[in-house]
Amino acid sequence: MEALNFRHNRMFQPRGLSSFQRLALCTTAITYLLILVGGLVRASGAGLGCPDWPRCFGSWIPPASAAQLPSRFDPSLFNPTLMWTEYLNRLLGVTVGFLIFATAVSAWRHYRREPRILGATVAALLLTGFQGWLGGRVVANELAAWIVTIHMIFALAIVQLLLYATVRSLSRGGGPPSPFLIALIVVTMVQIGLGTQVRGAIDAAIDNGVARAGALASVGTLDHLHRDGALVVFAGSVLVLMWLRARFTKEATLIRWGYVVVGLASIQVALGVAMAYVSLKPATQVAHLTVASLLLGAQTVLLLVHKTETDSQ
Ligand code: HEM
Repeated sequence: MEALNFRHNRMFQPRGLSSFQRLALCTTAITYLLILVGGLVRASGAGLGCPDWPRCFGSWIPPASAAQLPSRFDPSLFNPTLMWTEYLNRLLGVTVGFLIFATAVSAWRHYRREPRILGATVAALLLTGFQGWLGGRVVANELAAWIVTIHMIFALAIVQLLLYATVRSLSRGGGPPSPFLIALIVVTMVQIGLGTQVRGAIDAAIDNGVARAGALASVGTLDHLHRDGALVVFAGSVLVLMWLRARFTKEATLIRWGYVVVGLASIQVALGVAMAYVSLKPATQVAHLTVASLLLGAQTVLLLVHKTETDSQ
């Protein structure tokens, strides 16, 4: 928690973290881990490692060998590495589901009179249930790009709600949200949506026999829009930092979060450039996806900290 530096901010509670705050932070961190593992599943092509859902090859515990498969499954689909990768991803998903449930229960116990905190955790819980169902649709639609994009956007929405509940419980009061920061978040969400479409188009090209090295070149307009979008996100992040430095000279926490946003946007652009001009390495793909979700998270924290700071003036 020290990393977030809320305890040193006069608008945040001076004493140690409450049980709700610890749980909410832990749940947020593990949800990020799930997004990272989801990226690994995609990069390793393990998405269909379990061809059915919610079971895996018809059972709750994956079979030990192809010989144990029920007759309705083609034994050539059996790949233990991909199967276990996807199965662990699902287990982590279930763990996150339980953690979000526990966070909502804790919010009910401690913040019953703060509808925004309770509401955010309950909304996160409902979206998680929906997300589990959507995960099944992703498998049923054999990883079609449009449904993978929706799945990704809902994962990000869940993290946003958890961050909201956490930051809100740490702070008191709040002015109106900054339209400038909201615009940056919206543009970043659009950019993330475009990125997942680029990713889908690359996967489709590779499936159609295009060599991995040439797959990006075949994407066309979506790829160009994604590159232009990166410029907007990066320039917007730098402008936000300049504005914070000029306008909130005494708010060190706010300015620090501004730097975090610009730092993550820079890393993201560097990873994108590495994929576009060097090579499409799976590790870079996973990092690009993970940093995208961290960037959006940092922008959300910045928005919430800014709300608090403006209320204090
Ligand atoms: C702030 C800027 C950026 C954000 C938020 C962003 C976000 C994303 C996201 C979320 C994906 C989908 C990843 C997935 O579904 O696995 C993606 C894919 C991609 N992005 Fe970006 N991106 C940014 C900048 C860039 C830049 C500057 C480039 C290149 C010059 C780039 C090139 C790519 C490529 C090639 C893919 C497809 C990668 C793959 O197949 O996994 N991105 N981006």
